[in-house]
Amino acid sequence: MKTKILSGKLNDLKVAGEIIRKNGIIVFPTETVYGIGANAFNANAVRKIFVAKNRPVDNPLIVHVASVKDTEKVVKEIPNSAKKLMNKFWPGPLTLVLKKNEVISSIVTAGLKTVAVRMPANKIALSFIRESKVPIAAPSANISGKPSGTNFNDVYQDFNGKVDAIIDGGKTDVGIESTILDLTGKIPIILRPGKISLKELEEILGNVKVYNKKSNIPKSPGLKYEHYSPSAKVVLVENKNKIERVCNHYKDLGKKVIFIGLSKRKLNVDSIIFKNNEEFAKKVFALFREFDRKKFGVIIVEGVDKSGIGMALMNRVRKAASVIIK
Ligand code: TXA
Ligand code: MG
Repeated sequence: MKTKILSGKLNDLKVAGEIIRKNGIIVFPTETVYGIGANAFNANAVRKIFVAKNRPVDNPLIVHVASVKDTEKVVKEIPNSAKKLMNKFWPGPLTLVLKKNEVISSIVTAGLKTVAVRMPANKIALSFIRESKVPIAAPSANISGKPSGTNFNDVYQDFNGKVDAIIDGGKTDVGIESTILDLTGKIPIILRPGKISLKELEEILGNVKVYNKKSNIPKSPGLKYEHYSPSAKVVLVENKNKIERVCNHYKDLGKKVIFIGLSKRKLNVDSIIFKNNEEFAKKVFALFREFDRKKFGVIIVEGVDKSGIGMALMNRVRKAASVIIK
């Protein structure tokens, strides 16, 4: 398949809209990570996404909308809690799980009675959805099992030749995927942490729970798939006093080692130091891909505190890590 490369300019987004209405699939930027989208109302179009990504079909997709009004086209009702959150956080990196209506195809929701909806805060994404004139079902743009694509080159590597078009939006802003909040039960549950934090949600809703594997609360079958492991071994070091020792350990084993984290220190290995959790989150997925291209054997990641985006960042790193040192 010949993949068109489009810019974020309106004329190009009109072309993108036409492709979507003809049931094509398109990689597009959002403020979190790139998505790979199709007409949410057309099951055949949505099915192509699963093929292009090699995604298991029991992992449901997020429906992207350009307004609160669009949300009404895919859900049964918008509860008050959702209205408050939409007012405060939309457009933005918060996905809400609500009861689905009959129009939305079961391939989008993997047979669940609920649908995940979000209005992204990226001008290109919003304009693309508007030009498509339909909600866009989209997972993150990455071949299943790889880190989500956060810049044009990474999504081009994964999807050139596999999708109808890629919209170049440069680097994404947040770097990790949206917070997912399930509003279909008695108590709201964070299914996946993201930039919108537990504290921010509690301020609006009061009691909010955080999903964990051990509890029996309802969840998406897809949650079991979220493992982004680079080929390099990822070692998460939560105890800062052990960083130097761990770096030396892998270096002595003859590995090509790199350290990424917040604290400046003298190490015998390559290192990348970030200003804060936000910069760390923004760059981490792109770096995982880059380190694989550069054939690093071990990536040592410093554990950070849970403030701001820290909780979400550690959630993703823990999933990529094969060793966690406390
Ligand atoms: O920031 C993001 O959320 C990005 C951008 C492109 O919007 N999208 C994204 O999509 O990360 P994806 O497919 O990689 O992750 C969506 C997650 C999956 O874990 C899936 O299981 C969950 O959302 N999900 C989708 N529909 C659901 C539902 N009805 N109930 C519970 N979880 C759901
Ligand atoms: Mg994903």
